[in-house]
Amino acid sequence: MPEQIRKILVTSALPYANGSIHLGHLLEHIQTDVWTRFQRMRGHSCYSVCADDAHGTPVMLRAQQLGITPEEMVAQTRDEHHQDLIDFGINYDNYHVTHSDENKELCELVYNRLDDAGYISKRVISQLYDPEKEMFLPDRFVQGTCPKCGAEDQNGDSCDVCSATYDPTELKNPRSVVSGAEPVLRDSEHYFFDLPQFQDMLQDWLQSGAVQPEIANKLKEWFEEGMQQWDISRDAPYFGFEIPNAPGKFFYVWVDAPVGYMASFKNLCDKTDGLNFDEYWNKDSEAELYHFIGKDITYFHCLFWPAMLEGAGFRKPSAVNVHGFVTVNGAKMSKSKGTFIKGRTYLDHLNPEYLRYYFASKLSDAVSDIDLNFEDFAQKVNSDLVGKVVNIASRCASFITKRFDGKLSSNVLEPELVAEFHQAEASIAQAFEKRQYNKAIREIMALADKANQFIDTNAPWVTIKDETKQKFTHDVCSLGINLFRILVVYLKPVVPILASQSEAFLNDELSWKSSQSVLTDHPINKFKALMQRVDMDKVNAMIDDSKENLEPTVQQDPDSPLAKDPIAETISFDDFAKIDLRIARIVKAEHVEKADKLLRLELDLGGETRQVFAGIKSAYKPEDLEGKLTVMVANLAPRKMRFGMSEGMVLAAGPGGEEIWILNPDDGAQPGMKVK
Ligand code: MSP
Ligand code: ZN
Repeated sequence: MPEQIRKILVTSALPYANGSIHLGHLLEHIQTDVWTRFQRMRGHSCYSVCADDAHGTPVMLRAQQLGITPEEMVAQTRDEHHQDLIDFGINYDNYHVTHSDENKELCELVYNRLDDAGYISKRVISQLYDPEKEMFLPDRFVQGTCPKCGAEDQNGDSCDVCSATYDPTELKNPRSVVSGAEPVLRDSEHYFFDLPQFQDMLQDWLQSGAVQPEIANKLKEWFEEGMQQWDISRDAPYFGFEIPNAPGKFFYVWVDAPVGYMASFKNLCDKTDGLNFDEYWNKDSEAELYHFIGKDITYFHCLFWPAMLEGAGFRKPSAVNVHGFVTVNGAKMSKSKGTFIKGRTYLDHLNPEYLRYYFASKLSDAVSDIDLNFEDFAQKVNSDLVGKVVNIASRCASFITKRFDGKLSSNVLEPELVAEFHQAEASIAQAFEKRQYNKAIREIMALADKANQFIDTNAPWVTIKDETKQKFTHDVCSLGINLFRILVVYLKPVVPILASQSEAFLNDELSWKSSQSVLTDHPINKFKALMQRVDMDKVNAMIDDSKENLEPTVQQDPDSPLAKDPIAETISFDDFAKIDLRIARIVKAEHVEKADKLLRLELDLGGETRQVFAGIKSAYKPEDLEGKLTVMVANLAPRKMRFGMSEGMVLAAGPGGEEIWILNPDDGAQPGMKVK
């Protein structure tokens, strides 16, 4: 048990305001919330804040698409996100938004201090600019042909086909994703933050145990590559805060986003008596500060952010806790497979505490990815929470209510078993403290097994029938309920709703200390089912709903070709490039004896002739085909048919019968030309 009350502030990364909360986000919020609830149960002072990340080009463009102002969009999304989180039992003390007065003020303060200390410089750089939309283009808003492998439609910074990384100015045939226009290079003055000045400080900070060992190693690599000046400004039009004394220049979103942690806390202080901003953020603060983040934003939180804080005279984080990514059924979340699941879609079908429990049972202090496998999910929740924990109470409660006046006995059986439940506290607490929730859950479930064994061995449903064993039965059921109660104490940070229903049933409020006591002569209330088993039909319905989420804008006609025959899985450019398509002239077409579907075609490839049998007899007369140009697959392995060799394939569309249409190239194409 803690002697000293700690002062703690925790944050989760601020979700972008241009998309919905999904199961990936929820891993992080659940991780943070479990830790926060654990600290509070232990009697510490632990505040948690979060906010929506409102600024940047994607938000600005999304609002334009929707025809609303970014302010309107951000306000709406913030409310939606906040409600989603609340419905998962995730309770921040404050959920703010980075487009706020507090954040603007704090950004200016941080910036002015950095500038006064000489950490800001200006330099002209040359960047791609969209002349139609009249804006500079962030890397991901430029696409073009990969300079390395020639693959088309690649992003501005890297190629999906050959994995090359490059500068957007190296792309061939570049175009703006926003307008389609060809970008031009344009000069502009940018503001830079002198990150390299902070290298020594950062190295010390990293060695102080502020990050996990995997992260410290990763950062070491970055140090070795050499740190660069950090470009912190963006030109108008940009949705963000204007830099002081720099009209038309805005803070890059990654400057004001982490300051948003401070701003959300400031906003909380302004509405909470006795909560003092400086006590948490001043250089000499004795409070602890923890950020929970995903591995993709490590650089921002473990280099830029501590350097900004240090440079501006604020305290640094006590630790940055990094988690891995959620995969679903072993693969990256995918919109087409229905595994890109929004929080709201999940809530429409399933109990939020299933997910809290499942994620907790898999979360550790490592940075590794976490797979959400729905079979495993159902199995784990059903066997652990429903089958082990809730089962203990449901096996004992009705006897207490019906036969023993709804009161627990005054006698405690099996003091050794009880002592084991008490003593597990230290190691379970340590596991929660170190974010090894998987370890905590394993230990709790091992205790649950012991409680069930105790009940099995003493079989109260048998002894209740024996008049001479009434007191014994009362004692057994009372101990069962007490063991259940201690398990619920340990699980309370993970499943707060189950815990609060259990508190109502137990007629007792559970703090961490409750794990050290046993209730005797204590009245309990009628037991109601605490949790249903996971129903796989509901899981599948959720996945189906997530597939629908994808196509809200296109109303599909069920008879349309796409509905009948959906687009196949994405292939790489390399896969496509294996198919050699050529223009061919049909020089001869004729019926084939005894074949009711086939025509025999002779195709001229401009120097080479091929024989192809094509199943188009129902749609074309031979004489209508002769002389026509079409497209053929020229490198398909030859196939021996009853009527002779077929040396390729002509391409046609349509369901069949009279409805088959072969492809015709536009005028000018010549036999033998490659189609690419
Ligand atoms: N807005 C920034 C964070 C600014 S913090 C000052 C951002 N937003 S985000 O919406 O893209 O991500 C928010 C958090 O969710 C990040 O910590 C990110 O790592 C996490 N996740 C997003 N997708 C995830 C998974 N699939 N799995 C686990 N976490 C993931 O980044
Ligand atoms: Zn490439």
